[in-house]
Amino acid sequence: MAAVCCSTLLVLMAWPAATAAAAVTPDSLLNICMDAKHHKTEPGPEGQLYGQCVLWKDNACCTANTSMEAHEDQSYLYNFNWDHCGAMPEKCKRHFIQDTCLYECSPNLGPWIDQVDSSWRKERIRDVPLCKEDCDQWWEDCQDAVTCKVNWHKGWNWTTGTNQCPKGAMCQKFKYMFPTAAALCEQIWSGSYRYTSYHRGSGHCIQMWFDPAQGNPNVAVAQYYARGNAPSTSPLSLLLSLLPLTLLAQL
Ligand SMILES: *[C@@H]1O[C@H](CO)[C@@H](O)[C@H](O)[C@H]1NC(C)=O
Ligand SMILES: *[C@@H]1O[C@H](CO)[C@@H](O)[C@H](O)[C@H]1NC(C)=O
Repeated sequence: MAAVCCSTLLVLMAWPAATAAAAVTPDSLLNICMDAKHHKTEPGPEGQLYGQCVLWKDNACCTANTSMEAHEDQSYLYNFNWDHCGAMPEKCKRHFIQDTCLYECSPNLGPWIDQVDSSWRKERIRDVPLCKEDCDQWWEDCQDAVTCKVNWHKGWNWTTGTNQCPKGAMCQKFKYMFPTAAALCEQIWSGSYRYTSYHRGSGHCIQMWFDPAQGNPNVAVAQYYARGNAPSTSPLSLLLSLLPLTLLAQL
């Protein structure tokens, strides 16, 4: 019993120091823009946001110019060609436009920002918990679109200045490339999104689409995850959160 007591105390004493050293407080993850290619340094109102990006006009990490470019084929943003295996149907493309708007404009992705060592950005997003409906609809509407790659972040032939299918990569319908909605949302941007079974409006998943008249639902979702209420808490942090109770019980 003594050994349990003292190692418990030791952990408790070391814990606040370790947390302070990391210097990530819950609030520093809220209302921020990632350090990437086109993001503003800080979020703020943008009266002129264009088209599908207009949802973020009250508080955005994108400029009006970026929001307009997000709707262009092969825009100056990334020179990315959606039509690399033939024209992408409009009903599918609108999901890629919305995905670009969320990525460029949302100030609520802080809990999922990760450092990267890349020539064109210092930060990226990883494992953003996407609402089930947003991912399912994306997959549904893109069944007949065609592509030659599962991971669109890597492996293209860029010699012409835009992405072309690399040699040997066959163009196939999305439904064969991505057998499930989860495969599409999780693999296409190499783990930027995580498929969840949470529903829109649950407060536990990020919505790519929302009704701005009701406010931005992702504000509360970021708060929920930043404050560590996430259900995917690791066993270690769960143990740590229970320790004070254990200690009290022993006194
Ligand atoms: C956005 O800005 C870039 C760089 O200044 C420019 O080349 C591009 O034409 C602009 N796009 C729009 C739609 O205004
Ligand atoms: C890349 O594309 C260029 C131009 O289309 C082509 O000549 C070259 O063989 C391609 N390389 C690979 C590795 O696919």
